[in-house]
Amino acid sequence: MKDIAHSYPFLRQGKVRDVYAAPDHTLLLIVASDRISAFDHILPNTIPEKGRILTKLSNFWFNMTKDIIANHLVDADPRIDNWTDPVRWSQSDLRGRSVMVRKAQPLKIEAIVRGYLAGSGWKDYLTNGRVCSISLPEGLLEGDKLPEAIFTPSTKADTGAHDENISFEEARNLVGSDIASQVRDVSLKLYNFAEAYARQRGIIIADTKFEFGLTDDGLILIDELFTPDSSRFWPANSYRPGSSPPSFDKQFVRDYLENTHWNKQPPAPPLPVHIVFKTAEKYKEALRRLTDYSQEAKA
Ligand SMILES: Nc1ncnc2c1ncn2[C@@H]1O[C@H](COP(=O)(O)OP(=O)(O)O)[C@@H](O)[C@H]1O
Ligand SMILES: [Mg+2]
Repeated sequence: MKDIAHSYPFLRQGKVRDVYAAPDHTLLLIVASDRISAFDHILPNTIPEKGRILTKLSNFWFNMTKDIIANHLVDADPRIDNWTDPVRWSQSDLRGRSVMVRKAQPLKIEAIVRGYLAGSGWKDYLTNGRVCSISLPEGLLEGDKLPEAIFTPSTKADTGAHDENISFEEARNLVGSDIASQVRDVSLKLYNFAEAYARQRGIIIADTKFEFGLTDDGLILIDELFTPDSSRFWPANSYRPGSSPPSFDKQFVRDYLENTHWNKQPPAPPLPVHIVFKTAEKYKEALRRLTDYSQEAKA
């Protein structure tokens, strides 16, 4: 038991995921917790089952998109029955939220694709009519669909700092010209594929963020994919440009926090219980609509 426990040393805690070293040094064990972050801070509450929902959704999309780009998923249901992390996880907690993945060198940029004008894209557009140096038509409203999806990279800030939108030129300076072009082309393909799929399921993917990493075999997709944490999901039937639509993602939590007048400095305020439950419902609904399987239906 002890030896096995030592075979997954804890490496680091992300805002949502705990990362462990696997016995095979080319792999990592990643455990998605129920933590939720907003404005780059981890909130004091957890959202029940969130980590399992994110894991299911990411695995679903990794499988759906593997012909567009290789991804890090090696084992979606790793056999870790003899292992636990006494500090963080009991054995039963680990089930359904752990994945064995290929270790990659994460790129220094985040690959963001926007099909609609929202969030920091909308703010940038209001300031100068552009998003990440891409000029857009005049007179667009918040939430408007863009003529075509755009690639709007950002820096991948170290803990605590805010990611900043950057131009494609700056992205090239950070990761090199070839990789930047490859990331842009693959990101747009991934977005267009998933946007069309989700739309048939009544969900608009307004924008999304990917992380890529380098391996000996080239570029792969890592981290998470088309989840409510990494994407803006809007219900298609209540979509109206000119307003911020009720979403399936953590925009709901951001909206709540904006109204508390929290100054965005730690410590983040706790969420009231009804916000926690409503958020959990939204994550479940996104999973159900996109994949047809709910949490309860899991094997
Ligand atoms: N295949 C991989 N190889 C190396 N690092 C990875 C891989 N997949 C995810 N990561 C990293 O593991 C961490 C996942 O934790 P997460 O909570 O998502 O972090 P963050 O707070 O940066 O969002 C991130 O730092 C991510 O870059
Ligand atoms: Mg992440």
